[in-house]
Amino acid sequence: MDKIRIVGGNELKGTIPISGAKNAALPLMIASLLTEDKLILDNVPRLADVALLQRILGNHGVDITTNGKRNGDDPNAGQTLEIDARVIVDTTAPYDLVSRMRASFWVVGPLLARMGEARVSLPGGCAIGTRPVDFHLDALRALGADLEIDAGYVRARAPKGLKGARIVFPKVSVGATHTALMAATLADGETVIENAAREPEVTDLAECLMKMGAQISGAGTSTIYIQGVPRLRGARHAVLPDRIETGTYAMATAMTGGDVLLAGARPDLLESTIDILRQAGVEVDATNEGIRVRRNGAGILPVEVSTAPHPGFPTDLQAQLMALMTKAKGRSRITETIFENRFMHVQELARLGAKIQLDGDTATIEGAERLTGAPVMATDLRASVSLVIAGLAAEGETLVQRVYHLDRGFERLEEKLSRCGAEIERISG
Ligand code: UD1
Repeated sequence: MDKIRIVGGNELKGTIPISGAKNAALPLMIASLLTEDKLILDNVPRLADVALLQRILGNHGVDITTNGKRNGDDPNAGQTLEIDARVIVDTTAPYDLVSRMRASFWVVGPLLARMGEARVSLPGGCAIGTRPVDFHLDALRALGADLEIDAGYVRARAPKGLKGARIVFPKVSVGATHTALMAATLADGETVIENAAREPEVTDLAECLMKMGAQISGAGTSTIYIQGVPRLRGARHAVLPDRIETGTYAMATAMTGGDVLLAGARPDLLESTIDILRQAGVEVDATNEGIRVRRNGAGILPVEVSTAPHPGFPTDLQAQLMALMTKAKGRSRITETIFENRFMHVQELARLGAKIQLDGDTATIEGAERLTGAPVMATDLRASVSLVIAGLAAEGETLVQRVYHLDRGFERLEEKLSRCGAEIERISG
């Protein structure tokens, strides 16, 4: 298994191009199932999760062409996928594929809406908590689907099509909002989704669906209105920049005391994160090309943060912020409110010398003068990258194991960081 070797201590200086957002690319690719026409997606990141979803869609009969790069193309531009779901040969999403990536469960909505049936494996647990799918199922039931759980599979049927309905989520869920939104586009009549997720990736999906002919208003707010249409058409859409990748490199820069331009990043997608970074004494400026991040001479100041649904501070940056706070001058507090058990990085950060106390859903971090490199291992994507960030600021060598987690969500991580002066390499094996 590949490892990442980091020798810490170098400041990051230069430009890091920000890729298209994984969490937008996945639902956008799944939305292709809603139409017989071609959906063309630009700025799709080259990630293991995207490749896996290509396989999963391929299993349903979807043809996907990846456009190669031509001379003169921007070397940092994402890939363009031409997705053709004209013929759906199979409405089953099997366990061995769905269990590898939870988001693949989201095929259930579009398959049901267009084909009148879907059989999709329940995704099962994962390293950051139990992560049920009950809100997805309740939303589909509200839209008139007949659901049965059998041998680990959800069997959904709506032979006469789905019917518009009022869906009220008890708690904000990004995935369940995607499911309800996609399914409702082809339902008969109006659907209202209340307590909808306001994440920018939901808005991006809604914008693409509207280009495909869906009638949607209110995406980006807590109430989304969808007027169902009989069919959707093809469209072309560019995936929005990854706010989690942006926040991650901003924290890495703050951690090492450098000066980096995050090219193509959009400050409006991560206002709460920028606020927190500024409270921590990091200089963050919007420029024409993206976001410039610098640490001022005063070092890192401690902060108190709770994760929350958008526009709050994202749970997907919690581990990275914790890494940054290990170098703060004083005591910080970080509370995780979205996922139980999303503190797997704490023990690993402790191996680098971090002083972190856990009490239920709150971590108290005593900023340490220095971290020292060590072999570490992580169990999920964002936790792994927090260890990379910590390694960049630690003295000596850090070896991060189980790199496949990073490959799921960070495109060319070592290359992007080493171009800015980090000593980081992948060791194959
Ligand atoms: C998405 C993101 C993930 C991010 C998370 C929260 C993708 C591919 N993944 O995951 O990176 O960390 O949003 O911002 O976009 N819940 C239920 N029942 C459900 C669904 C969710 O109880 O049916 C709970 C979850 O356990 C969790 C909370 O709702 O406590 C939010 O989860 P949700 O927003 O659904 O996360 P995902 O969409 O899976």
